[in-house]
Amino acid sequence: MFTELAHLHQKCFPNRPWSAEDFRDLKNSGCEIIMSENGFIVYRIAVDEAEIITIGVNPEMRRNGIASAMIGIIEKNLKNQGVKKIFLEVALNNEPAKKLYESMGFKVVGSRPKYYDGVDAILMAKTI
Ligand SMILES: CC(C)(COP(=O)(O)OP(=O)(O)OC[C@H]1O[C@@H](n2cnc3c(N)ncnc32)[C@H](O)[C@@H]1OP(=O)(O)O)[C@@H](O)C(=O)NCCC(=O)NCCS
Repeated sequence: MFTELAHLHQKCFPNRPWSAEDFRDLKNSGCEIIMSENGFIVYRIAVDEAEIITIGVNPEMRRNGIASAMIGIIEKNLKNQGVKKIFLEVALNNEPAKKLYESMGFKVVGSRPKYYDGVDAILMAKTI
């Protein structure tokens, strides 16, 4: 699983790929990982809040609703586990991801200047 995740991550984030070891470490540190043939999502729960760590979809399979379906699935699971709010960070210039999160009902709640190699990050949240 971790090798496939690293392979897909490399396709999604060619400038900053994570290794199979990175994914193993995330899992060992308590993160949840959902992976399908063309997408993955990594998140973690802290009491009644959760954070989406990363999400990616195979470039050839985008705009087919895969990312929104994955977020929908984890939202349902998180709600059942008593989670009240989901947070995430996204680079200010990552339009597809910002649009995705907005379309799923996430709202901007803050920013982190120069977070990603000099690019600001915005902090988004959704109450579930
Ligand atoms: C962001 C990403 C995960 C979206 O995956 P996806 O499976 O294509 O997204 P979906 O098909 O579920 O899109 C749902 C909605 O999000 C918005 N959206 C997604 N990609 C978009 C784009 N390129 N431009 C504009 N809106 C977009 C649209 O509203 C879309 O609904 P629509 O297709 O009915 O118009 C994908 O582009 C990706 O892997 N990007 C690289 C990795 C990345 O940046 N991850 C996020 C890190 S924070």
